[in-house]
Amino acid sequence: MTLAAWKGRTVVITGGNSGIGLEAAKALRAAGAQVVLGCRDVARSERQAPGFPVRELDLADLDSVARFAGATEQVDALVCNAGVMGGPMLMTTQAIERQMGTNHFGHAALVARLLPKLSRVVIISSIAARGGTLGPTLTVEELTSPPAYAPQAVYANTKQANLLFAQELHRRVGDRVPVVAAHPGVSWTNLFVRQLRDEGRGYLVPPMRLLGPVFLQSAKAGAAPTLAAMSAPSGSFLGPRAFGQVRGRPHLLEVYGTATDPATAARLWDVTEQVIGLALPSAS
Ligand SMILES: NC(=O)c1ccc[n+]([C@@H]2O[C@H](COP(=O)([O-])OP(=O)(O)OC[C@H]3O[C@@H](n4cnc5c(N)ncnc54)[C@H](OP(=O)(O)O)[C@@H]3O)[C@@H](O)[C@H]2O)c1
Repeated sequence: MTLAAWKGRTVVITGGNSGIGLEAAKALRAAGAQVVLGCRDVARSERQAPGFPVRELDLADLDSVARFAGATEQVDALVCNAGVMGGPMLMTTQAIERQMGTNHFGHAALVARLLPKLSRVVIISSIAARGGTLGPTLTVEELTSPPAYAPQAVYANTKQANLLFAQELHRRVGDRVPVVAAHPGVSWTNLFVRQLRDEGRGYLVPPMRLLGPVFLQSAKAGAAPTLAAMSAPSGSFLGPRAFGQVRGRPHLLEVYGTATDPATAARLWDVTEQVIGLALPSAS
């Protein structure tokens, strides 16, 4: 199965107005797919991604996720790509810590609502998932309102949650809906620009605009694992292998040790259902 298999089929990409999501969207469109972008600022996203249908989706608001899913009649594949990294402790509309609310809970709610229509789910994690500290006794509070907020540690936990969620979803539905996780290595995108600004280090943006493209791989290269995930077997995890998985062509990777414990995945599943107020697929 190659990208051509998506010709004429509909792929929804969250946050496809920027970075690796936009590059994946362009490649899928070139292969003949109908690509729909789910974005929080429709007017800006239409300017950033000319020619793509853009529909409003704010993953930091579970009501927005519900509206988006309710209005989505046609979808074959869902790419859970959107993400935020770092910044101050902010809360989503439903009072969930913003990084976990956006990166994990918003996507989990979207998957729960769209799953009956899907024939593939792709979830974007990160090498940061290796540093996640979620364990089998994790609590609702730990995820929604971490007591000692350390931005990068919380980001790592969100990406660990993405990988744990992908593995557990694969165990539960992978025989009928392939579920694949991927990470883009380290790619120069707005993720870093936004983080620097949010953390009061905006003065570093101009030098980083010069240095980032030199030292980090491009968003186009970072999108390659996402595209490979569109045809990879369920349960697999794809990303670059070179330089500690920072750059290069996508390969099948071992799932990180932080995401292989079934007890942690099962606990995350239960906590996620509680927080999003939706049933996720039960174990068969
Ligand atoms: N770049 C890397 O090196 C790297 C490494 C590992 C993992 N990743 C992951 O790759 C994914 C894509 O990131 P990127 O690097 O391409 O960064 P990016 O260019 O900043 O793209 C992130 C996308 O997420 C969207 N987004 C953020 N909050 C949202 C919300 N509440 N609702 C809907 N969309 C929202 C952004 O929309 P706005 O334009 O409105 O902000 C943007 O379209 C993320 O999941 C990130 O964690 C990236």
